[in-house]
Amino acid sequence: MNELNKKSGSAGIFISIIVVVAIVAVGITALLVNIFERKSEARNPYIRLVEVTEDTTDPEVWGKNWPKQYDSYKRTALTTSTRFGGHGGSEALPAEKIERDPWLKRMFLGYAFSIDYRDRRGHAFMLTDQEDTKRHNVSQSGSCMHCHAAIMPVYRELGDGDALVGMNKTHAMSYQELNKMVHDMGHGHSVSCVDCHDPDSMQLRVTRPAFIVGLQRLAESDAPVPAIPSIDIWRQGSRKTPYDPNVDGTRNEMRSFACGQCHVEYYCSSGMPLTFPWSNGLTMEGAEKEWDETKIKGERFYDYKHKESGAEILKAQHPEFELWSQGIHARSGVACADCHMPYMRDGASKISDHWVRSPLLNVNRACQTCHHFSEKEILARVDSIQQKNYDLLQRGGAALMDLLDAVEVAKKSGATAEQLKPALEMQRKAQWRLDYIAAENSMGFHAPQEAARILAEAADYARQGQVEALKLTK
Ligand code: HEC
Ligand code: HEC
Ligand code: HEC
Ligand code: HEC
Ligand code: HEC
Repeated sequence: MNELNKKSGSAGIFISIIVVVAIVAVGITALLVNIFERKSEARNPYIRLVEVTEDTTDPEVWGKNWPKQYDSYKRTALTTSTRFGGHGGSEALPAEKIERDPWLKRMFLGYAFSIDYRDRRGHAFMLTDQEDTKRHNVSQSGSCMHCHAAIMPVYRELGDGDALVGMNKTHAMSYQELNKMVHDMGHGHSVSCVDCHDPDSMQLRVTRPAFIVGLQRLAESDAPVPAIPSIDIWRQGSRKTPYDPNVDGTRNEMRSFACGQCHVEYYCSSGMPLTFPWSNGLTMEGAEKEWDETKIKGERFYDYKHKESGAEILKAQHPEFELWSQGIHARSGVACADCHMPYMRDGASKISDHWVRSPLLNVNRACQTCHHFSEKEILARVDSIQQKNYDLLQRGGAALMDLLDAVEVAKKSGATAEQLKPALEMQRKAQWRLDYIAAENSMGFHAPQEAARILAEAADYARQGQVEALKLTK
């Protein structure tokens, strides 16, 4: 290297140092700005204008402190509709599912769901829709209220401060009796801020006793739970205290637990306290096993006897939390709130959208944060999953109707109850699977492959039952 080059070399180094220093300075400033922004986001500056406590169930009071979240929460009263989500029908009454799919109605014959079973809608309506349903034509238990009102103070009152003890008394009460108590005590509100937030710290938390007990039994089993890693960590520990989602759950898990308090399969009648059937895991088979082994008044558990065939039927209810747990999003740590309550900018702050609704109305914030495809492409992918699920569901429904027809013919040709048993056992298995996916509200999206597997089994069991019945036809 010659002298000239050396000189320009050291000048070059000098310039480089200046450039590096400048870049570092810019970097540090950016970092500081970023840290400051995050801190203020984490601090979530708000002024407590009013005091809120465990007994403040009225969301309007909380709204004085947190007006932005309250504004979006109130929008759950607005109508939403997508191809399979939201609701059809009028504002007064959402559309009847059992009119849209007549096979559903026949499947539920002998049960209150064949009288009235409508599309769900926003959280604002949960209490009034429950009060208005004609399913009360048959008497319902107080357990219904667990997921349809801001009921925690009432549970504590009934249990002398212990909400679980209180809840365990309500299955023996009538719906009307408990509903009156909730209103008389001033807690006749839909799911409210206090149900998901600690009034002192605003931390996300769960309150519903049946959910907490359900998760404890899940943790105590050895069923794999890849979607809930904190359960594995608890299992490896001393197990001295039961698994507690509010202590052991991660912040990310809480973003799904908050919804799992209600969007789950359950037992809800007067025979025993409200139960989430998770002692064999969160799978469809796990729940089926638990119900098959449950005895009510000495008999194998069933929700109703089918009016035409006499089969002992299990009714499935909205297993969103369970189906989600079997899908790729749950396994990748994507929570209910990521899609159904995505972050939104509101002025200078970033808040969670409390307008809980179909994410397809909100693809930009709900999906495009992770998926860098156009909105059109994302919607097309969802539609393709849902269409396939819908087609399989209809074929399952048709297979079940054929099974029922075959049983009717067998009965007419003199088949005895004993002879019909194998066919009716197949009906129980087929209906449980079909209903599990029909009652789940994502039309297969939460776990497409698992939903397809369950529907394939439903059609198979229905056809096996049909064959059993045909054997009895002379
Ligand atoms: C990856 C995103 C994603 C996650 C995570 C997710 N969902 Fe969904 N969910 C959807 C999509 C998409 C639909 C279909 C909406 C439609 O058809 O309009 C849906 C539908 C629903 C519906 C019916 C909505 C309506 O408007 O009728 C409910 C209820 C629901 N999900 C609850 C949950 C719960 C509870 C969890 C967590 C246990 C969860 N979801 C997790 C994307 C998600
Ligand atoms: C474990 C929680 C839970 C319990 C217990 C519960 N529900 Fe619900 N209910 C829900 C959820 C979640 C939805 C919305 C999803 C859907 O409609 O599938 C809903 C929707 C409804 C709807 C509106 C849609 C429809 O089905 O027509 C009515 C009415 C209703 N429930 C009545 C009842 C009655 C009556 C009981 C007691 C027998 C009851 N619920 C018990 C969680 C629950
Ligand atoms: C206290 C019980 C409860 C909790 C907690 C709860 N839900 Fe719901 N959810 C319901 C009921 C009941 C309905 C049906 C209301 C009706 O049809 O009147 C419903 C309806 C919905 C709908 C349909 C909205 C529409 O416009 O059609 C979505 C989506 C939903 N819930 C998602 C969630 C998510 C996500 C969470 C958690 C952040 C959650 N829910 C927490 C009980 C609950
Ligand atoms: C069904 C459960 C649920 C209900 C009911 C609910 N929230 Fe939230 N809230 C959440 C979730 C989930 C988050 C996100 C928390 C996180 O990511 O840690 C949240 C976040 C918040 C935050 C933190 C800042 C933000 O926006 O992310 C505030 C403040 C808040 N909610 C206020 C309210 C108020 C006020 C009400 C009643 C009007 C309410 N919430 C009702 C589930 C709920
Ligand atoms: C927080 C990030 C995140 C969000 C939000 C999210 N996804 Fe995903 N999604 C993933 C991950 C991770 C996978 C797994 C595949 C992978 O690793 O790329 C996935 C997979 C998928 C798949 C293919 C798997 C399947 O189930 O068939 C579809 C379709 C999909 N997402 C649609 C959506 C839609 C629609 C939304 C909004 C309602 C959404 N995602 C929101 C992260 C996300």
